Amino acid sequence: MNFSSLNQIEKVNAAQFQRDLLQWYEEEKRDLPWRKDKDPYKIWVSEIMLQQTRVDTVIPYFERFIDQFPTVKALAEAEEEDVLKAWEGLGYYSRVRNLQAAVREVHEQYGGRVPHTKEEISSLKGVGPYTSGAILSIAYGVPEPAVDGNVMRVMSRILSIWDDIAKASSRKVFEEAIRQLISEDDPSSFNQALMELGALICTPSSPACLLCPVREHCCAFHEGTMNELPVKTKKKTMRHLHLAAAVLKTEMGEVVIQKRPPQGLLANLWEFPNTELSGIGSPKVELELFLKREYEIETKLKAEPIAKIQHVFSHLTWDIDVYEGRVTDYCSVKENSRLVKAEEVETYAFSVSHQKIWKKAKDE
Ligand code: ADE
Repeated sequence: MNFSSLNQIEKVNAAQFQRDLLQWYEEEKRDLPWRKDKDPYKIWVSEIMLQQTRVDTVIPYFERFIDQFPTVKALAEAEEEDVLKAWEGLGYYSRVRNLQAAVREVHEQYGGRVPHTKEEISSLKGVGPYTSGAILSIAYGVPEPAVDGNVMRVMSRILSIWDDIAKASSRKVFEEAIRQLISEDDPSSFNQALMELGALICTPSSPACLLCPVREHCCAFHEGTMNELPVKTKKKTMRHLHLAAAVLKTEMGEVVIQKRPPQGLLANLWEFPNTELSGIGSPKVELELFLKREYEIETKLKAEPIAKIQHVFSHLTWDIDVYEGRVTDYCSVKENSRLVKAEEVETYAFSVSHQKIWKKAKDE
């Protein structure tokens, strides 16, 4: 590994840097629910939720989740369906499936106690270097780096590190930098202070350098390069899919729903019957043919879509035309599909885009 990019580190006075950062954190830290105690299970849940999701969004989810599953035992013994329902809307559902699998292992193999060694904790499903570092430092006070995209942004500016943070290999460079700077006395506050700095001051665009507690230590501030750092190359282009979905209601006020396959995108979540459009026919006709072929449902959908919904994933965009139709004598020929009462639809865990579909369709 080439650590030449770390030659600036010697110029930083580590002890003074820690004092300035920690004093600021003590005064300015936000009152977040996962900061109330150091329960490693709660820290773990919060860190998994905070991956790819903003703090403001996470707070109510975290509080509900911990109310419902307050301990390792409670989550280990919960039904997957209930856990998915509690996560509904947070996205990236493999996070919570992995979390529950790992929590079950902790329950069975470690007597319910979250392990506190790097080796053991890193062997758990879904626990990568960031999460293991965060749990070890925040809950157990172990001086391990916890490097995510925000911390890389902050440290790239402080130490003038020009490695491309979009490359997986760069994380090690930042971990090495943190190992040299981390407070051995209070690694928990040190790591959280870097996260806090990234959230409140050292933001992606227009960082508030004049309010920054460590600007005197910051190479980018002195060199005027804060808007050029971090170096981050663009990811691959987005894929676009055009879909059509059907909300099929019976005279009795029931609706057809289906469960997605156990592997892949949005695995095991519920949704309305839908198909990818080829663009050859009109969306309505393509959808009717699909319903006949896959469900043996003969239906005439309403002529116009009741909604057009867009959902953007990290790598993919769905544009969904939503149609409504009536079904009579529905018999469930398709595996994993079900007829449910309209009042019960919301007890199933749906992906966000299909929750939006239901919001539009239930009052039609
Ligand atoms: N982002 C990731 N982890 C965090 C934490 N523990 N506190 C605030 N923001 C975070």
